[in-house]
Amino acid sequence: MNILPGEIIRKKRFGGELNEKEIREFVQGVVTGEFADYQTAALLMAICINGMTDRETLALTLAMAKSGDTLNMDDVPGVKIDKHSTGGVGDTTSMVLVPLVAACGVKVAKMSGRGLGFTGGTLDKLESVPGLRVSIPIDEFKRIVRDVGCAVVGQSAELAPADKVLYALRDVTETVDCLPLIVSSILSKKLAAGCDVVVLDVKTGSGALMETDEKAMQLAQSMVRIGNLSGKRFSALITDMNQPLGNYIGNALEIEEAIDILAGRTQGDLKTVSLELGAHILKGAGVADTVGRGRAMLEKALDSGAGLRKLGEMFAAQGGDPRVVEDTSLLPKAKHSVEVKARRDGYIAGIRANEVGLAAKVLGAGRERKEDSIDPAVGIILRKRIGDAVKKGESLFTVKFNDNIKAAAAMTRLEAAVDIADVPGERPTLIHAVVE
Ligand code: URA
Ligand code: CA
Repeated sequence: MNILPGEIIRKKRFGGELNEKEIREFVQGVVTGEFADYQTAALLMAICINGMTDRETLALTLAMAKSGDTLNMDDVPGVKIDKHSTGGVGDTTSMVLVPLVAACGVKVAKMSGRGLGFTGGTLDKLESVPGLRVSIPIDEFKRIVRDVGCAVVGQSAELAPADKVLYALRDVTETVDCLPLIVSSILSKKLAAGCDVVVLDVKTGSGALMETDEKAMQLAQSMVRIGNLSGKRFSALITDMNQPLGNYIGNALEIEEAIDILAGRTQGDLKTVSLELGAHILKGAGVADTVGRGRAMLEKALDSGAGLRKLGEMFAAQGGDPRVVEDTSLLPKAKHSVEVKARRDGYIAGIRANEVGLAAKVLGAGRERKEDSIDPAVGIILRKRIGDAVKKGESLFTVKFNDNIKAAAAMTRLEAAVDIADVPGERPTLIHAVVE
């Protein structure tokens, strides 16, 4: 290393703009260990306080993307798309839109993550399908994308290893909530994974990383700007997370709700947001000239059952039991069920998504510690949404559980998560903005 860590830290501490070489040395130093954790932590804090220009953020993103393996998807013909959500509760859009988009002829090569904090993870949800594998070698991943049209797997190659180190340090130094660090963290992994078109779902509200529209907009604009500078096609939707998106929260339950939507049995917010994201993907991939046309194509794939069949094909290709798409009773089921009831008449004014997510985690749907195993069967079903009228004694939530003590703790949280008002309020807007 020709530039000393201290020189780079000092420059940023006093508000300077780091050049590409300094940023590259930093990222390499993080991976090799030449930058000690305490030096990295000091630089992260200086970045949080003094910010980064677009040039710096782009250089950081590219250096992180190149810090380990990168996937070359060129041998899979066609436009490859990826979708990324900043994380939410009852956020099962991938399970709905991935098969629908693939049924419209666009290749989806998606690398997903585990649950984090109060948010659920797509990999954990998928593993509730009996037999299904998410650890799949790269060659097999590519074959499934080529032959079936879609695959959703865990990260098998060492993509963007610098992010692992930085993320772990940010988590314990109060530097998670920093725009250029979030942008480079998310984008570096997307760039390393080798897709051509990426649609981002930036959540806003009580159950989101960004709790206000203003912050969500800043994040979306920054990711689209930096992403497009990198040469790929990025767009973003800002969508509502002021209440859980779907009505089912929990791993097998969320798979069940996605299947119910694809089978045409369930309508609602989860379906609406999934189709909207999918429509932007079809437009980005160039198979629909407008978002409206894309939505119509997806609705046709849904009505004809093509999306549901595609989901079954993907499950089978990944070793899962494809019969679950016809018969959701084959998914793991919790042994017991109890209702959380309204204590008064009125109208639902709020359902704090983060609290509902934590209640599901308490039941065993998520992990307290990273080595914990999860219970795929447990979870929560929302019986009311914001704006609905409610009578005293009516069910607000159904809790599906396997452990009485955990159920009691979850019920206490759920009761506190809901506000009931005397007068009806407005239902939240679902799509807050589009950034292209
Ligand atoms: N998700 C990421 O991958 N990184 C962040 O910094 C925040 C959310
Ligand atoms: Ca759901």
